[in-house]
Amino acid sequence: MSEVIVLAYSGGLDTSVCVPLLRERYDFEKVITVLTDVGQPKEDIKRGNERAEKLSDEHYVIDAKEEFVKDYIFPSIKANGSYEGYVLGTAIARPLIARKTVEIARKLGADALGHGCTGRGNDQLRFEAIFRATDLRVVAPMRDLDLSREWEIDYARDHGISVPVTKEKPWSIDENLWSRSIEGGLLEDTFYEPPEEIYAWTKSPERGISPAKVEIEFSEGVPVALDGEKMGGIELIAKLNRIAGEHGVGRTDMIEDRVLGLKARENYEHPAATVLLNAHQDLERLVLSRAELRFKAMVDEAWSELAYMGLVNDPLYADLCAFVDQSSKRVNGVVKMKLHCGRAYAVGRKSPDAIYDQEMVSFDSQTLSQRDSEGFAKYHGFQARFLKKY
Ligand code: ARG
Repeated sequence: MSEVIVLAYSGGLDTSVCVPLLRERYDFEKVITVLTDVGQPKEDIKRGNERAEKLSDEHYVIDAKEEFVKDYIFPSIKANGSYEGYVLGTAIARPLIARKTVEIARKLGADALGHGCTGRGNDQLRFEAIFRATDLRVVAPMRDLDLSREWEIDYARDHGISVPVTKEKPWSIDENLWSRSIEGGLLEDTFYEPPEEIYAWTKSPERGISPAKVEIEFSEGVPVALDGEKMGGIELIAKLNRIAGEHGVGRTDMIEDRVLGLKARENYEHPAATVLLNAHQDLERLVLSRAELRFKAMVDEAWSELAYMGLVNDPLYADLCAFVDQSSKRVNGVVKMKLHCGRAYAVGRKSPDAIYDQEMVSFDSQTLSQRDSEGFAKYHGFQARFLKKY
């Protein structure tokens, strides 16, 4: 067999071990690696590239940050993307990484697609929801071979791969512009309190530094300016991650229901996501009607579940995005957010599309006659009156 495989490569231990395994255990003649940059730390990308240059037959790096923001993070903001309280960083990045891998495989006429996910998590499902839409063979060595961490570390050393994972810091980390997840090791004990060292984007909310304020401007449901300064999405999110991270905003410690049904203990940090989602939801309350808000909560939940499962090719995903895009047309304005001791909350909002009338609602106003609502009050709760409950 002289087959060529394109592997979605992150530069971490699992995908690095996959490269020689694909030659030795699967007889692939050529292993091509694709590293997709969705905003992981520059050092990780650099180390990944260096490793891949040594290990694989051909290596590609794709800067997909713009696309990640425009086509994955922005829709997620518009849909208030959250699954059980998780802001979906890893989940929304996987389809993009899978699509980039497929693009290269198609271009090169490869025979197979590979990923380094295990058989326990969600990522295998997200990759394969995209991969299996092609007619290429799909290979998942980590899942097939059921390797232990120790075996991988030894195997990596034998193949000249320097190993970043040590016994002292056994965390499995996945990071992109939107969120950072920390799993594994002692954190698998659900009662174990996470030590400060697992966090890289956020300082302790217990530091008690004085509050900060940021103003976020939204246009059609997506953030376009920070404190009055217009900027692109990548810069805005990166800046906000730093500012809100100082205040310990956006830490999540949760039990999550994975797609397969396994419950998992998950730790995340996502300062910018927390600020932007809270601000966005606050602004929606000013501009969307009560009926829209109620209905959109269901749309948001359905959208988030599909995004979590990586089912972005389900026609329902596009249907829901269309709804969200339409309702977002009026989500314009500025939200003033306070950041303090791990919290990010709105303390002011304004919009040219507000369906709020200060004059009408005011205690001091005479615009509406209060007597007009008497008729309404006579019918309100009409049926229950027959029960004579006071
Ligand atoms: N539980 C999260 C999710 O399913 C994070 C997964 C992190 N993935 C990883 N390969 N470390 O999206």
